[in-house]
Amino acid sequence: MPMIDTFGRAVTDLRVSVTGRCDFRCTYCMAENMTFLPKKDLLSLEELDRLCSAFVAKGVRKLRLTGGEPLVRKNIMHLVRSIGRHIETGHLDELTLTTNGSQLSRFAQELYDAGVRRINVSLDTLDPQKFREITRWGDFARVMEGIDAAQKAGLKIKLNAVALKGFNEHEIPDMLRFAHGRGMDLTVIETMPMGEIEEDRTDRYLPLSVLRENLEKEFTFRDIPFKTGGPARYVEVAETGGRMGFITPMTHNFCEGCNRVRLTCTGTLYMCLGQNDAADLREVLRESNDPAHLAAAIDEAIARKPKGHDFIIDRNNRPAVSRHMSVTGG
Ligand code: GTP
Ligand code: 5AD
Ligand code: SF4
Repeated sequence: MPMIDTFGRAVTDLRVSVTGRCDFRCTYCMAENMTFLPKKDLLSLEELDRLCSAFVAKGVRKLRLTGGEPLVRKNIMHLVRSIGRHIETGHLDELTLTTNGSQLSRFAQELYDAGVRRINVSLDTLDPQKFREITRWGDFARVMEGIDAAQKAGLKIKLNAVALKGFNEHEIPDMLRFAHGRGMDLTVIETMPMGEIEEDRTDRYLPLSVLRENLEKEFTFRDIPFKTGGPARYVEVAETGGRMGFITPMTHNFCEGCNRVRLTCTGTLYMCLGQNDAADLREVLRESNDPAHLAAAIDEAIARKPKGHDFIIDRNNRPAVSRHMSVTGG
């Protein structure tokens, strides 16, 4: 039986940010000088595994590892393999990752072998120079090698592009052709006001209704009921035969259908991406070995899941919540 919150939503999806660290610093996501958590505050991989198992026992069917960049966490494959056993036993439908792709050429095959079948790769441009600019120092060729390796290993890929005015809005047609030409889905995302960054989000914000209207001058979209359990609404593109997703937290939020909660690498459970209320599961985990205590703490937290976020793009460029996306993993 899945957990049901007070608004009648089934919580079947857990996102776990296994590290707040990242080897890139995308300008819309992080400040250049981020203060990361001291290592001593981190849950061990064993502790994360215990928490994940507790959620699976409570009816979570889909688990996504995020970050920061999940593949920079030391020995991350221990955790992936350990969670993978829930797929083997039929208690979990999907184990997946959202990654920046920088470490994929090293990990692709191991991920597949551990039961991962599909991953999301963040990619905001196809221009190596612009890639370096948006990530501050990322190597585009390395990410491409990672994508190649992932496809070779048999992983299905969805590319995620945050739509940014004056940065990639005119590049989306090329990205669409690139993704679909290689059998990948492409999802575009509205930028969300999380954490202090150097740039002005008001300048960069691009409502996807505007992007879609422009794209429809060139492409023919048909809305399709395709669902991954995530927030994207999908269209099929006649010209390419591929799928494109739109994630519109700002212009058309999807909170009424929210099926997820988020666990951080310190064991804090956020019931909503855009709210501050959280439950400290690390303390419960360290106080007792009794799974019933953890189960009760999870129930208590789910009962507090709020109706939704209150994101607005503030004219004064103040973030709606002070923590960065990388803390809760998006
Ligand atoms: P799929 O399983 O492929 O549907 O993945 P997903 O879209 O759920 O996950 P992904 O990590 O690729 O997230 C894509 C974007 O959606 C990121 O910018 C996330 O922050 C955002 N996102 C995911 N879930 C939520 C949510 O519940 N609320 C909001 N506001 N944004 C979300
Ligand atoms: N708004 C929207 N998406 C964001 N991401 C990171 N920061 C933000 C933000 N402020 C995206 C990344 C990645 C996903 C997990 O979230 O590009 O694809
Ligand atoms: Fe790293 Fe992802 Fe944030 Fe870019 S968006 S800095 S790749 S966590």
